[in-house]
Order: sequence, then C-alpha cells, then structure tokens
Amino acid sequence: MATRHLLVTGGAGFIGSTLVRQVLAQEPSIRITVLDKLTYAGNRANLDAVTSVPGNNRRLTLVVGDVADAGVVSALVTDCDGVINFAAETHVDRSILGSDDLLRTNVNGVQVLIEACRRELERYRAGERATAPRFLQVSTDEVYGPIELGSSDENDPLAPRSPYAATKAAAELLVRSYFVSFDLDVVITRGANTYGPTQHPEKLIPLFVTNAIDGLPLPLYGDGLQRRDWLHVNDHATAIWQVFVHGRRGEVYNVPGDHEMTNRELTSRLLERLGRPWSLVRSVADRPGHDRRYAMDGSKLAALGWRQRMSFEEGLAATIDWYVANESWWRTARSGDWHTYYQRQYGERLLQSTAAE
Ligand code: TYD
Repeated sequence: MATRHLLVTGGAGFIGSTLVRQVLAQEPSIRITVLDKLTYAGNRANLDAVTSVPGNNRRLTLVVGDVADAGVVSALVTDCDGVINFAAETHVDRSILGSDDLLRTNVNGVQVLIEACRRELERYRAGERATAPRFLQVSTDEVYGPIELGSSDENDPLAPRSPYAATKAAAELLVRSYFVSFDLDVVITRGANTYGPTQHPEKLIPLFVTNAIDGLPLPLYGDGLQRRDWLHVNDHATAIWQVFVHGRRGEVYNVPGDHEMTNRELTSRLLERLGRPWSLVRSVADRPGHDRRYAMDGSKLAALGWRQRMSFEEGLAATIDWYVANESWWRTARSGDWHTYYQRQYGERLLQSTAAE
C-alpha cells in the first residue's frame, strides 16, 4: 500500500503528534493533514517542533475542526489515501463526571470518519480515485476490562466498564462492522497506558509529577494496588505505524508496554526521582468501578516485526525530567478550566483523605 497523503485526526494530541513527528521524519514522500479540535488536550505547540523543521511546512497542514463534523471530514478524506484516528476524549475520570463530549467524539466521530472512508472506497471501485483508503482506529487495553491473571489476547471478549472504555469498544465494533459489511480496509490497535513528555496533567504520571514539584498532595485512589502496564509514547507511535503499514486488514493488534506495576510502586519511583517525600501521597476515595489490572499479550504485533525500544527506567526518568524542565508548558495546561475540574475531581476526596501508608 502506497500512502502519499495521510489524514491524522487528533494529530495535535499527545500520541498523535508523536506519530506525526515520526512519520514526517522517516517517510519523506508522505504528506500529512492533521484534523484536530484543539480542545484542552490537543495543543498546537505539539506540532510546532514539526513545522520548525525545514521543508515540513509544505508537508504538514493543520485543520482545526471537529471529527464529528461530516462536512469537514468528507472533504479531507476525499484527498487522502489513509486515515489514522487518534481523536478522542481519553480520560476515565472525566468520562465518569460526564459523557456527552465523549459520545460525540469517540463514537459519532468514528462513524463520520468510516462513513467518509466507505464513500471513498466506492469511488475507488468506480475508478474515480487511485487508491482505496485504509482506516486505523487507535483503541485501548481498557476495552477488555480488567484481567486478574495472565494477559488479554486479541480474541478475548470486550468487557468495558467505564464510560470511556465503553465508547472505545463501541467505536471498535462499528469499525469492524464496516470491514465485514463493506470490506473497508480497517485495522485497530489497542494500546497500554501510555506515558511521555507533553501528556496532559490530568493523567497519573504528569499529575503526580507536577503536583510533587509544587509540593501538593498526590491523590492515590483506593489502596493504590491497581496494576497498569506502561508504554512509552514513542514506542506506541511506532507500533501504530507498523500496524498501519503492515497490519492485516480487519485485524486487531495489542500494543503492550511490558512494564506492569502497581500505582503505589510507580508513585514511589516518581517521588524518588524528584527527591520528594512519600508524605505527599494521600489515600483518597477510589474511582468508581476502578479496574484492578490490565495486561495484554503482544505476540501478534511482535510477529509483524515491532519491538519496543525504550526501557521503562530510561523513559520514566526522561519524562520526569521533561516536566521539571518545561514548567511553562504544564502550567498552561493546568490553567483555564483546570481548577474547576481539579476541584470537582479531587476537592472532596482530598478533604476526606488520609495519609497513605
Ligand atoms: P490514568 O492515568 O487516569 O489512566 P487509566 O485510567 O487510563 O489507567 O490512571 C492510571 C492509574 O492511576 C489508574 O489505576 C488510576 C490511578 N490514578 C490515581 O490513583 N490517582 C489519580 O489522581 C489518577 C489521575 C489516576
């Protein structure tokens, strides 16, 4: 498949902008259009590093718009050979506070995108365009729900438990239905918990690092013994590209991090690197329906030739150091509606909190 013009939806976000940077650096013949709503989590500055590279200006176009806006999407898809969809509301806690935006972006947006791809497939069949579009949906390990022991593989049933995970599972089923019903060329990736520079501070690692820098409490949910598998953003982006280029149509690929640990252990590593005391950690009321553990089997992706490059120790240290060095970036991210969100999410929890053992 020869992709020449790629549409990356949500491409100004954390993982999307990483993929855009990598592809522009490694694939000189590819042009990219990014469609991004630039909500609180999408950041134009994420793409600045790309546009400052000589020659990239001509190869990257940013369109500010909504993935659920059929008019905008269909014009963009008409001109592209492939679509990679990162656009999503991704935060479980926010999804529990309210799910309107979540449904629009994570489900309606996907429907709009694949419907546009289906129309382009028909045009291809009618000889009106040179290539059939490929669509890659970026999904998550959370669609499996928690697994007590062992690891989930791609054939396991979907059992999402948070509103966020439910929207991602719904999107996957919709995407798969377009493969079955229309033979649309689709692939799906399910990534583990991703970390790295420029992740929004609503997520565990950047929240705890930035709070610790400011000497604020670190709100650890419940007993802190929930387990997550951590994947560096650069590795996540290379995996998505590997699947986009080499994945078999209609297939799903897990992208594990292979660095599983409890939230407590992760918290203590962050504090150690920052030289801050454990006494900052507060035990707060748990997230409702909190999944205890995610773990995925990565052999299917490994068979495509993908390998992780970043060791967790190195990746975590570099990520923490990035937040220390880029205070103005995260202070901007922690402004505007941040305080309202923080108060809603943590105000009462912190009032009722106890020292974490
Ligand atoms: P998060 O970064 O929100 O990712 P996800 O919910 O997609 O796994 O959370 C990672 C883990 O950290 C999860 O088990 C919830 C926990 N957590 C806390 O204990 N306190 C917090 O303030 C946050 C944001 C997360």
